[in-house]
Amino acid sequence: MIDFSFTDEQTLLRQNTRDFLERELRPISAEIDRDAKFPAEFIRKMGEMGYMGVPIPEEYGGAGLGKVGYCILLEELGRVDASVSTILGAHCSLGSTPLLYFGTEEQKMRYLVPAAKGKALHSFNLSEPGAGSDAASLQTTAVRDGNDYIINGTKLWATNGKEADVYLVFAATDRSLGAFGGITAFIVERKFDGLKLGTEEEKMGIRGSSTMQLFYDNVRVPRENVLGEVGKGFLIAMTTLDVGRISLAAGSLGASSRAIELAVEHAKRRVQFGKPIAEQQAIQFKLADMGIRTRMLKFFLYNVATRAEKMGTNPAGWSKADREELTRDAAILKTFASESASFCVDESLQIHGGTGFIKSSEIERMYRDARISEIYEGTNEIQRMVIGRDIVKRGWE
Ligand code: CAA
Repeated sequence: MIDFSFTDEQTLLRQNTRDFLERELRPISAEIDRDAKFPAEFIRKMGEMGYMGVPIPEEYGGAGLGKVGYCILLEELGRVDASVSTILGAHCSLGSTPLLYFGTEEQKMRYLVPAAKGKALHSFNLSEPGAGSDAASLQTTAVRDGNDYIINGTKLWATNGKEADVYLVFAATDRSLGAFGGITAFIVERKFDGLKLGTEEEKMGIRGSSTMQLFYDNVRVPRENVLGEVGKGFLIAMTTLDVGRISLAAGSLGASSRAIELAVEHAKRRVQFGKPIAEQQAIQFKLADMGIRTRMLKFFLYNVATRAEKMGTNPAGWSKADREELTRDAAILKTFASESASFCVDESLQIHGGTGFIKSSEIERMYRDARISEIYEGTNEIQRMVIGRDIVKRGWE
């Protein structure tokens, strides 16, 4: 359970992915950020190469490389472009995993296969103007009308909101039943009448990904597009976020590693007081603190990913203990990863000095990009709440 090593296939995936991203993505990353431009052409290429469905089994159009393979991809993306890792995470972790875990065979064929093949982009719609951290207080409603449901409400912070073909939306079907029993997940196609795009947010980081407000105005959704059971939507959202937090951590690991790499390059080049600043203990201590966090993160990330992979894709078959441990460890991982990445980019920028504060420097973009990981997919305050509650409830090992 503690040991893991990468297979030859996983090592090859990392090498091929790194080559591909260095060749095709790095040259356009600064422009994507500057122009806040969704990289449609690059996402299309990723789809053609099978990257949009890396963890999805081959029978559903994916590459079948599991959670470890997926984390390798996200880690490599995190080294190059956080906008693209955000787009992929929203599409795959949040927008496709729930279909794999909770969808009917028909729903998988209809929606998961095109998503995994990169032919359709997905978006996950949980947050609302009045329901962010307190997700269970959502106000969007879904009312039964014959064989359909009618959805009304406003969603916020929808990554891929502008470009998506399919939206997984959470709505209250019976408020009196509360979070468990009262919330249902629905699969909504872009072309359904009544789904309207709101304003696109202008962000300080991950500027190549779109973040939209969405209006559901009497959107009629057929009953067969209920994902999982009616009333089980909150469980679907929470399970999805548990799993999503693992790949988010992979992106943070990539960013941390790149921040160290850039710091070392700069510190070896920059000569002050007659020698490269890399030879100063003040700089080496910074590198050491970055290295400690990043090394620990790598081992914990692939440990949690391996355990989540072993649990399989049918949450109904998970033991209570495994589920609770996954929830806690994903929260620990997400918190540690995002804070380590923020620490590393901040220290790397400090080592760069004035050069790192200049708009055209890579570390300046990474500094802005890293900040969101402490906020999205559950703020770190919520993660600490989840971890603390678990420790009180189940004790410590
Ligand atoms: N897995 C399974 N069940 C879970 C669970 C989990 N991870 N977390 C909670 N539950 C269950 C609880 O056991 C409880 O069930 P019972 O009533 O049967 O005991 C039920 O759900 C309610 O749970 P809580 O009592 O813990 O509910 P709460 O309201 O106090 O807290 C929360 C819930 C953990 C705070 C939750 O609301 C949460 O995770 N909030 C953060 C939301 C979030 O991450 N939003 C990000 C949106 S995605 C995004 O960022 C956009 C994007 O595109 C990138």
